[in-house]
Amino acid sequence: MMPFKGFWGNLKSPIIGLSPMDGVTDAPYRHMICKYSKPSLVMTEFCNVEGLARGAVSMLKEFLYSEMERPIVAQIYGVELDSFYKVALMCCYLDFDGIDINMGCPANKVARRGSGAGMIKMPDHARKVIQTVKRAAQDWADGIDLEEAGIRTKIITALQKIRTNEPKRRLLPVSVKTRIGYDEIVTEKWISTLAEEQPANITLHGRTFRQMYLGEANWDEIAKAAKICRQAGITLLGNGDVRSMEDAKTKIKTYGVDGVLVGRSTMGNPWFFGKHEPTQEERFQVAIEHSRYFEEKHMDHAFFAMRKHLSWYCRGFDGARETRVKLMQSNSSDEVEAILLQK
Ligand SMILES: Cc1cc2nc3c(=O)[nH]c(=O)nc-3n(C[C@H](O)[C@H](O)[C@H](O)COP(=O)(O)O)c2cc1C
Repeated sequence: MMPFKGFWGNLKSPIIGLSPMDGVTDAPYRHMICKYSKPSLVMTEFCNVEGLARGAVSMLKEFLYSEMERPIVAQIYGVELDSFYKVALMCCYLDFDGIDINMGCPANKVARRGSGAGMIKMPDHARKVIQTVKRAAQDWADGIDLEEAGIRTKIITALQKIRTNEPKRRLLPVSVKTRIGYDEIVTEKWISTLAEEQPANITLHGRTFRQMYLGEANWDEIAKAAKICRQAGITLLGNGDVRSMEDAKTKIKTYGVDGVLVGRSTMGNPWFFGKHEPTQEERFQVAIEHSRYFEEKHMDHAFFAMRKHLSWYCRGFDGARETRVKLMQSNSSDEVEAILLQK
């Protein structure tokens, strides 16, 4: 049996996509990336299923997106099966292109409860999570009603407010993003377990939970996973320390993966996925544009969430440090413009 692939089956090779980063890859950032260079796919920041299923509708901000970001995958994490089921239905209702389950987050408050990388220590439960999300995707395609599925009216009303399209009854592919182990490397055993549940795609970060973000990502382990996935008809994306498009292409060839997801190297660089090398002047213009878009679309967010992006746009020129200090105190796009145009 081959997994249901959905959009994963239509991506052009090699796949070079944007890795989800909580607090970074929000809708304005993804908008800038998709405008200035186009990754093969993007993912939302991860969203906690228990919080959202219980009615924390403010968490739906993680699921805002615009059409130009497609293909876009909603990423979710948590422990409870019932909450996974309900939030997966919400992702279908919002017409994402896929649903990704986070089984890799190393934050203690996440992994200690058994979610994120904690799933690596609970393989039986991890299998049930994949089965549950796939069942939700199938039930949605078969016509289940959100109220009938036990989703609270307050959440349905909030979903209706943020959706941009008429909900479509299409089957969404389910994927997993994970690490090579918890305390120690268990790549082959863990990836074989996941592969039995036939996700459409697995993204593998070449570090264990214990490593957090330290040391180098282990691409030899990623190559072992790629072999297992190829036999199972599952695409495998490698992840960890990809520094440029050239580096991405070299790693794809060397380690036999279908593609990669890139995270930190894209910070402050929405041109990452293209060929254009921007001037500092262009970087400033785009920093201002990003600030304006952030304000326009995210009025309810405090502007300080924008400041880290601004500091990333300002590197490698004389006076960069002083400019960053000023930007880190800015409170509006007008202030950003005044600081950068003075330069
Ligand atoms: C600030 C930050 C937030 C992250 N948030 C998420 C997340 O929400 N979901 C996820 O699967 N991975 C998350 N990650 C992990 C990245 O997606 C990626 O796996 C990791 O950074 C390694 O790739 P890179 O070396 O290209 O950055 C996060 C990483 C960083 C640095």
